[in-house]
Amino acid sequence: MSSITRNRIEVMHGVNLDQLGRRDPSHYGSLSYEELERYITEMATELGLTVRFFQTNHEGDFVEHLHRLSGLADGIVLNPGAWTHYSYAIHDALEMTELPAVEVHLSDVDAREEWRRSSVIRELCIGRVSGKGPDGYREALALLKEHLAA
Ligand code: DQA
Repeated sequence: MSSITRNRIEVMHGVNLDQLGRRDPSHYGSLSYEELERYITEMATELGLTVRFFQTNHEGDFVEHLHRLSGLADGIVLNPGAWTHYSYAIHDALEMTELPAVEVHLSDVDAREEWRRSSVIRELCIGRVSGKGPDGYREALALLKEHLAA
């Protein structure tokens, strides 16, 4: 039996998520992006996972970060922000990673505007968590942990 532990999770945030704390708290809560990172780190530590973070407002940088992940991460938690709804470039780059991924949204995207209901990455992800605020990341991490242990 292999003793290799697969516990390296890349947590990727896309456009406008660095502005948490300034965005509508009724959708996104009151944590700043830095506070969210700290909270996710605590939850990951409790689950025995290690996390690395990446955030950008530039779609090409997000795509190139996905290109570089092979061998550096065992799973991905991603909240691409508005890119979720239309970026086929992110779909294709995520597909190339061949890594298990979970899509997370702080807000309940299915209860908001019609255009937020579609996700171009959903079919590539082993799970999707939406509308649970920062605690949604715990669920996403737990899903990946379960998947990686299987
Ligand atoms: C979001 C939902 C998206 O529709 C929106 O564009 C975001 C954040 C969320 O976390 O709820 O920027 O991904």
